[in-house]
Amino acid sequence: MKTVVTGAAGFIGSTLTRRLLDDGHNVVGIDSLDDYYDVALKRRNLVPLKSPRFRLVEEDLNTAELASLIDGAEVVFHLAGQPGVRQSWGVGFDPYVRQNIAATQRLLETAKDSPSLRRFVFASSSSVYGDAERYPVTESDLPRPASPYGVTKLAAEHLCRLYATTFGVPTVALRFFTVYGPRQRPDMAFARFVKAAVLDEPVAIYGDGTQERDFTYVDDIVAANLIAAESDLPAGSVFNVAGGASATVREALGILEELAGTRLSVSYGDLAAGDVFRTGGSTKALHDATNWTPTVSLDEGLRRHLAWAREFYAGS
Ligand code: NAD
Ligand code: UGA
Repeated sequence: MKTVVTGAAGFIGSTLTRRLLDDGHNVVGIDSLDDYYDVALKRRNLVPLKSPRFRLVEEDLNTAELASLIDGAEVVFHLAGQPGVRQSWGVGFDPYVRQNIAATQRLLETAKDSPSLRRFVFASSSSVYGDAERYPVTESDLPRPASPYGVTKLAAEHLCRLYATTFGVPTVALRFFTVYGPRQRPDMAFARFVKAAVLDEPVAIYGDGTQERDFTYVDDIVAANLIAAESDLPAGSVFNVAGGASATVREALGILEELAGTRLSVSYGDLAAGDVFRTGGSTKALHDATNWTPTVSLDEGLRRHLAWAREFYAGS
């Protein structure tokens, strides 16, 4: 099967691509290798993807000649985007509009003229919910993003729905909840925490650390993408993908300290604009439709993330 993974050099995209190759698929990866974070990390993510069945196209979705790249593909996993909640204010907003809204619209325009395509999976975000009225949030709860990033992901979700209802593009939007594990983006909390534990560096917490997240291990996210690709889900549908491992930032740090056998030097500062106080997602809808369920506990996921970091930073 030919699949296309946009954002293949990124954290989640590279993990998904490795799994697709292991499963015997042919993958075309599209990634501009933008400099939101150190490009050397993205190049390093690509190393384990070397295979005669993998081709990287180092181009921007906003300018690439997409029709020939998508031609013959059965599934498109659209993970390319501008992530990060707290950086999306002010002049930072522009890349969010270009990479999350404009690029998605351009890809959907191409998908609508691709007869071989039977699934288009879009990487949406728990950030579309904002501070919810009740937890766990379900897909029918009112999305009210608390960050400009969340607004752009919600806009892209609506584009997916529109192209599904108007042109029959077989879209499914998956709302990922705070994803962690090996190769996590360096701007994210656990990436910073495991690095600090290994290199004995200080950790800075936004607020008092009582904010809560429904942390999701990356392999569970990959599994949800694969199941969404293979299942008979309605075009235009939306599903939460959450780890069921809700914890406060303080609790997560405590688990990590236990695992690392060390005490971290922690400072507490101001809350960050755009951060919600709590995320928590019901995954009943995806479970009912596909039987998907998260399998990696926070303890186990952090243990694996830490083990990876120990190897990654060995010698530095
Ligand atoms: P990442 O930054 O590691 O990966 C995204 C990749 O997309 C990068 O390698 C980047 O170079 C590429 N890219 C960006 N714009 C592009 C464009 N116009 N054309 C081609 N390539 C482009 O991020 P990630 O954490 O792996 O997230 C992947 C996706 O999942 C993003 O869309 C993000 O919004 C979404 N998401 C992530 C999380 C999370 O916790 N990591 C949670 C919810 C949703
Ligand atoms: C993450 C991703 O970065 C977004 O791209 C994604 O869309 C979002 O998950 C999602 O679930 O939709 P976030 O929850 O902010 O966003 O993930 P982290 O960066 O790992 O932060 C988790 C918590 O730790 C937040 O409350 C944050 O304020 C806190 N944090 C983060 C710190 O206290 N210190 C840090 O150095 C980093």
